[in-house]
Amino acid sequence: MEQTIELGSLVGFLLKAGDVVALSGQLGAGKTHFTKGIAKGQGVKDIKAVTSPSYVIVKQHTGRLPIYHFDAYRLKSADEMYEIDCVGFFWGEGISIIEWAEKVMECLPDEFIKITINILGKTSRGINVSYQGERYRNFMEEVKEKVKCLK
Ligand SMILES: Nc1ncnc2c1ncn2[C@@H]1O[C@H](COP(=O)(O)OP(=O)(O)OP(=O)(O)O)[C@@H](O)[C@H]1O
Ligand SMILES: [Mg+2]
Repeated sequence: MEQTIELGSLVGFLLKAGDVVALSGQLGAGKTHFTKGIAKGQGVKDIKAVTSPSYVIVKQHTGRLPIYHFDAYRLKSADEMYEIDCVGFFWGEGISIIEWAEKVMECLPDEFIKITINILGKTSRGINVSYQGERYRNFMEEVKEKVKCLK
């Protein structure tokens, strides 16, 4: 769990205004914990306040940049994301993080960071970081460099 937060923090440290992070992984995989890590990396002091925004769809936190934390779990379609003006958030000055992104792929921008968390055991997780779009090429290189330093 600490390592999930640590990797999230490493990612969060590298994110820039307007970046979009799509999180996938089954129930309890650790998407919210990873988001806590992103918030930590963005300088949010109280990451305990970073909890699942299931009922409100999006919650905002303030780090160096605004953090828009979405949870699409309960949504039937991307329409409900459009209703809350998700595009306005994605194109805004903050960082957008979407749990259960696969449910609302249609509303995501063409370019995004993709994080997939797999449950390997009770406390063991496999976390894959990839990206779609040239925008994140440098980000990915930086992640690889920093992950090397963790080992
Ligand atoms: N290595 C790990 N990384 C993350 N969480 C872990 C790990 N090991 C155990 N856990 C536990 O797994 C659960 C992950 O919960 P979390 O809310 O972050 O998942 P989630 O993917 O957001 O779930 P949901 O789909 O319900 O939103 C927590 O109870 C946490 O304590
Ligand atoms: Mg969650």
